[in-house]
This record gives sequence, C-alpha cells and structure tokens, in this order.
Amino acid sequence: VKLMKDQDLAGKRVLIREDLNVPLDNGRITSTVRIDAAIPTIKAALEKGAKVAVMSHLGRPDEGVYEESSSLAPVAKYLSEKLGREVPLVKDWVDGYTSDSDLVLLENVRFNVGEGKNSDELAKKMAALCDVFVMDAFGTAHRAQASTHGVAKFAPVAVAGPLLSAELEALGKVLDNPARPLVAIVGGSKVSSKLSVLEAVSKIADTLIVGGGISNTFVASAGNEVGNSLYEKDLIPEAQRLRAATDVVFATDVRVTKEGFKAWNHNSVAVAKKANEIQADEEIIDYGPETAARVADIIKNAKTILWNGPCGVFEFDAFAQGTETISRAIADSEGFSVAGGGDTLAAIDKWNLADKISYVSTGGGAFLEFVEGKKLPAVAILEERAKG
Ligand code: 3PG
Repeated sequence: VKLMKDQDLAGKRVLIREDLNVPLDNGRITSTVRIDAAIPTIKAALEKGAKVAVMSHLGRPDEGVYEESSSLAPVAKYLSEKLGREVPLVKDWVDGYTSDSDLVLLENVRFNVGEGKNSDELAKKMAALCDVFVMDAFGTAHRAQASTHGVAKFAPVAVAGPLLSAELEALGKVLDNPARPLVAIVGGSKVSSKLSVLEAVSKIADTLIVGGGISNTFVASAGNEVGNSLYEKDLIPEAQRLRAATDVVFATDVRVTKEGFKAWNHNSVAVAKKANEIQADEEIIDYGPETAARVADIIKNAKTILWNGPCGVFEFDAFAQGTETISRAIADSEGFSVAGGGDTLAAIDKWNLADKISYVSTGGGAFLEFVEGKKLPAVAILEERAKG
C-alpha cells in the first residue's frame, strides 16, 4: 500500500478515516485509547501543511437520523483539549461544507444513508471532499463501508495512515515470522465466538493458553465436572481436537463461587480448588493459583506473545487474580507482545500496563479477523489502489 508519510500534502484537502468509536458513559468518554492513538496521524498531516478533515463512526445509530447519543461531540471536545486548539465538529458535510479551520471533525459517518451498505453514491460524495484519502482506522478495517472501503475506491489518491501501518506491522511480526516460542493467550467467555481464532492460532503458536469460559470447556473436555460454570458442551469435541493438534494449556486448578452472577460484587469471595474437585453447585470464575503461576512461567519464557481476552471476571477483585497474573507476566516478559480487544484493553488499563506491552492494538473485531488470517477489506482496496 502507499503510505501517508510519503505523500506531499501541502495545501491539499486530506480526509482521514479514524476509528474514534470510544466507549461512552452518559456522554463521558471512558477510554480515550483510540483517540490518543489517532492524534499523531492528525498532527503529522497538519505538519505537512494539509487541510485536514477527520471522519469516524461512533456506535451503531440508525442511518438517516441524527441521534445526540451517537454524536462525536465528546470526541471533538477531547480532541480540542488534547491539541490545545478548537476542533470544530461539522454536522452536515456530505454534500460539501466550508470551514476556516485547517482541522475539522466530521459528524458520525453512520448518520449517512448508505454508509453500512457501502453505497457508491455516498462514497463518491466523500471522495469529492478530498485530494487525498488516508485510511487510518485499523479498528474498522474489517468493515467494507462507504467511509472505509468505498471512499478509497473513488478518492484521487488513497493511502494508509501511520496508525494503520503500525498495527499491520506489529501483527505481521507476530503472525508471519515470529521469534519462538510464540505463546498465544486466548480468553473470553465462549469457544464458539473465538473458534476461528483458536484454530488459526493453534496452527502458528507453540503454546496456546486458554482462559475464561473458553478454559472451562477445556476443563470439561478433560473429564471434569464443571458444575454451574459457563461452558459449551457441544464444543467439547472441538476442544479435544485442538488439544490433539497443539499444546493447549487450560486450568488444572480453579477459583469457584456459589454466588450466581447477579450477586457478584466487590466483596465476592472465591475458593481455590483442583479442577477435579468442582461440585455441582459451584461455578468456575478464575484460574487457580497453580494454573496462574504455570501460565506466568510459560509467558515469561516466550519470545513472542499474542494476547486477546481475559481469564476471569476481572471486574471484581476476588475473580481477577488470573487475569492480573497473566497481564503482569506479559508486561514483565522480554518477548515481543501484542494485545488487542476491548476487554483486554480494559484489563491492561486496570493495572496500568499499557507502556509495558510492546504493542497494544486499537482493534477489537478487526484484530480478531486479522489474526484469523482474513483479508481486511479496507486494506485490500488500498493494495488495489497502490497497483494503480
Ligand atoms: C469496533 O469497536 O470494533 C469498531 O469500531 C467497529 O465497530 P462496529 O462493530 O460497530 O462496526
């Protein structure tokens, strides 16, 4: 693909697609990671003398209607604060707009009819707003939509921004020719929703560590009673197949509770026990201490680490020890580490470890699809455009 850094942008109208889809709580941004990651790209384009318009989606509003709860207004405010200058939010822009500012934020792309279906008509209008289109939204690169794919088809020039390039490079380093051993940690609640990831990773990783509800299905596959734990009985054969194909590490001791998820709170208590001692009325909630220590040891000796998904219900301290142990082990490891996914980022934030992980991806779904080996449509179109 062609890169933004190699373009002469002086005096040009540059349209940058970022993923500024940040979590909001009553209009307050709860994680600014994605905005912070986009800022260097915006600054670089301004330094090159471009007239910059940034576009993004936020949430999943209905097309064709303005909805205040999905407005990028909080993002414009945060950008203004971070950049120390007013960043105007342009509400109506698809058919053209005027602004004196050399930096504007365009209101949520998903308010426009045709965004989701990648309408050519809409994409052409977006393309008409720029001389150069910069795709920088790695987090949305798995979506073939008007603002990610269509616009790249019709813009005079379409290039990758520095964040997108950095993401692809970091993930490439893990997937293409990793320093070994390569250890992958896949946590989260369900085998079914991560099956393709587990399969892809089982082919390249020297060790696959599973956590959370996924680990529970493996615990059951080893013939253990799992009581009330979240697990997927139908996927036990898949778990067995994965174990036959590669070195899969799952819990051999666990922490359990009898409380039921509605009662979980910050004073909840968990009891550690061996995986073969779980009672019918108990629920696995975290790794046990021995498993956590074993997993930390494997991570410590890894040369490359790929991490997605927590290993327990880490929101509550009594259930967070497994996730905390692996997060800290990754942070302390000298290997090259890449982490991605919304819950994973929240865990990294909880223990303030972002600076100690080699690369923290801004992608959720895009990160997983890339790991699965899928071609991201918004990247594919840039490759096509680069061929001329
Ligand atoms: C994400 O948060 O994964 C991206 O911003 C994509 O959002 P979407 O799933 O609503 O397309």
